[in-house]
Amino acid sequence: MKKRVLSGMQPSGKPHLGNYLGAMKRHVALQEKYECLYFIANYHALTTVRDGKNLEEMTRELAADYLALGIDPKKTAFFKQSDVPEVTELTWILSTITPFGLLERAHAWKDSLAKGKKNPTAGLFQYPVLMAADILAYQSDFVPVGKDQKQHIEIARDIAQTFNSTYGDTLTLPADLIEEEVETIIGTDGVHKMSKSYGNTVEIFAPEEELRKQIMGMVTDPNRIKKEIPGNPEICNVFSLQKIFNSSKIKDIEKRCKSAQIGCVEDKKMLFEAILEELRPAREKRIEIQKNLDYIDEVLRNGAKIARSSAAKTLDEVRKKVGL
Ligand code: ADP
Ligand code: TRP
Repeated sequence: MKKRVLSGMQPSGKPHLGNYLGAMKRHVALQEKYECLYFIANYHALTTVRDGKNLEEMTRELAADYLALGIDPKKTAFFKQSDVPEVTELTWILSTITPFGLLERAHAWKDSLAKGKKNPTAGLFQYPVLMAADILAYQSDFVPVGKDQKQHIEIARDIAQTFNSTYGDTLTLPADLIEEEVETIIGTDGVHKMSKSYGNTVEIFAPEEELRKQIMGMVTDPNRIKKEIPGNPEICNVFSLQKIFNSSKIKDIEKRCKSAQIGCVEDKKMLFEAILEELRPAREKRIEIQKNLDYIDEVLRNGAKIARSSAAKTLDEVRKKVGL
């Protein structure tokens, strides 16, 4: 029996290099080895998106992005989170055994309070419980995510353990699947992690000119104010991305940067070309998929059927165990 992999992604903006390298690219690759379930986390997105039409649109857009990158509906159940309402029922049940303190220690929650978030909602606080329900409803073995989500998987595991020790073995304990070599990708500002919420992204499906602008605008080694000054690749974010996209030329790039033979502009142009080259097939496929919205909807509907039957089985057992 193949092990089961599950992951979700919020439709809260256009996917960027961080999402691509930390999550989406890996999700596609894992289809070859595992039984995969991937979903668009639109329930989670409700914690930030407050425009229904917009959420619907972004959900479809993200589905098109994923399909373009190579999610194969013949191999993988690909669906919308909200098409499996069992997950919200499980969220409630799990919330009744989740210690308040566990959620108070969640980094994402603490960060949003630290950033001075006004009137944080109960939904935002509960976010990790909903995520645990996603993972546990399908009895997932592995959850591939970026490093920033690691704690959420630990919380899901904690909650599953509590459930099992309270009611008897019911839920599979999930493990994260984090690729240690993939560091958190830093944004174009050279400081923060690349994130939609910092506005420092390189959007993988942006029109070519826009993509070029985002890459050419990246902050490099701040001491290198002219080409003649030798660069320090260790502290340059463009160099970090070169390691990924131009790995075969990396020794040469490093040498030429350190000896001021290559300037930051040329460096970024090379990076732009390499990123465009890697993404070209997906970018072309994306245009085709976008023309066929019925296809996208059909894929999501079929994926939901598979996912829902699996979640319903878990919920049957959970309801029995807790006495509902
Ligand atoms: P954002 O911070 O832009 O809102 P999300 O929180 O929606 O991104 O993340 C979606 C997925 O992409 C998660 O699995 C997350 O770990 C991964 N991810 C997001 N930003 C990065 C990054 N800068 N580097 C690596 N992975 C990332
Ligand atoms: N919280 C995840 C993120 O922002 C998205 C997500 C929701 C998820 N449910 C999940 C990821 C379950 C993995 C498994 O990236």
